[in-house]
Amino acid sequence: AKLSVRDALGAQNTSGERVKVQGWIRSVRSQKEVLFLHINDGSSLESLQVVADSSFDSKELAFGSSVEVQGQLVKSPSKRQNVELKAEKIEVVGNCDAKAFPFKYKERHPLEYLRQYPHLRCRTNVLGSILRVRSEATAAIHSFFKDSGFVHIHTPIITSNDCEGAGELFRVEPSSKVKVPEENFFNVPAFLTVSGQLHLEVMSGAFTQVFTFGPTFRAENSQSRRHLAEFYMVEAEISFVESLQDLMQVMERLFKTATMLVLSNCPEDIELCHRFIAPGQKIRTYAKKQLFNWGVDLHTEHEKFLVKHCGNIPVFVVNYPLALKPFYMRDNEDGPQHTVAAVDLLVPGVGELFGGSLREERYHFLEQRLARSGLTEAYQWYLDLRRFGSVPHGGFGMGFERYLQCILGIDNIKDVIPFPRFTHSCLL
Ligand code: 4AD
Ligand code: MG
Repeated sequence: AKLSVRDALGAQNTSGERVKVQGWIRSVRSQKEVLFLHINDGSSLESLQVVADSSFDSKELAFGSSVEVQGQLVKSPSKRQNVELKAEKIEVVGNCDAKAFPFKYKERHPLEYLRQYPHLRCRTNVLGSILRVRSEATAAIHSFFKDSGFVHIHTPIITSNDCEGAGELFRVEPSSKVKVPEENFFNVPAFLTVSGQLHLEVMSGAFTQVFTFGPTFRAENSQSRRHLAEFYMVEAEISFVESLQDLMQVMERLFKTATMLVLSNCPEDIELCHRFIAPGQKIRTYAKKQLFNWGVDLHTEHEKFLVKHCGNIPVFVVNYPLALKPFYMRDNEDGPQHTVAAVDLLVPGVGELFGGSLREERYHFLEQRLARSGLTEAYQWYLDLRRFGSVPHGGFGMGFERYLQCILGIDNIKDVIPFPRFTHSCLL
């Protein structure tokens, strides 16, 4: 039978069952009479030990090569693993030029170094663990929403609106080879989406509880450790919510439930990530004197200060000044400070993880806000939602890469996405 490394490692029958395992060589150790190989196929952090006699050519079996091993699964005499594979036949599928291969046997390469090789870094233990956790976390988030009765909506990638109103848009146009009637493919300027929120608001007006989980794009000219030009966002929109408390509860439940699931499904991978972080790296410094002035937006340094101030735990910040926030947030009508019902969740090491708000569901309030921003014409459909059966509603977005940074303690966002896109970089 053909087995994955994971299944081979977990095999109950170790009385010499004949199996075939395929993967990449992670280590080679040759002793006088025997040759020990470890092979990994990405199905688990742990590699499978292959024991071969010295008739196998150890030069052929180099670190990084892909192999197919046939043999017997037996109980391992070593304490380090339960099962090992006694090789009868080893076939090199593709050999690996060890001199040119950027990773060296037994060396622990820093994440920064690995980043130069987006096409190869997934073969290392640490990226293997991160990307398996990413996959588990994706499934955990979907299962949270399914179990909570949310409907999953595919919101569009190409859109004609700028939800956040920040202008950080990528324009979408056909290549010059495409013959387009009337110069413009869509008749209107089109962009990659910065958020699926407005489309989710449409859907929450029919399904009550909806979510989306897809790529979003921002032309943020930032070289920071927590910004990407293409990132995944988990967004939820809920009708009939009346207070920020309601929203905050869902945010908290999402975070806790998904994290518990990930912790129970891949504890070894999470542990490896935590071990990989150099001591001291987690502790960030920030300016000691912080000035919080009303009406000035929170910057990274402020966020770090608040989290630290509250004892290094996740912190909700609510009711931001209206002037700093997009047109859709609900007016708190609270006098001179004039705030909107917005909520951010700040977490240690990362800063802003969630952004959400109650939405302005009152026709006249929204109409005025849109008019002030010169958006009335473009957002007639959005105003319609307030004309035809409007309900109090709200929602939030969670940056998925920031979530992974948070649970794995990974300092740089570029290390938790398979192929990072950011200013001056779109490799592969
Ligand atoms: O706070 P933001 O901009 O909120 C929205 O887009 C809302 N429309 C979401 C909603 O209510 N449905 O973005 C939400 C989250 C941020 O808190 C942050 O975690 C993440 O998305 N984020 C980024 N992550 C990586 N790179 C970037 N450039 C990011 N910009 C925002
Ligand atoms: Mg935000």
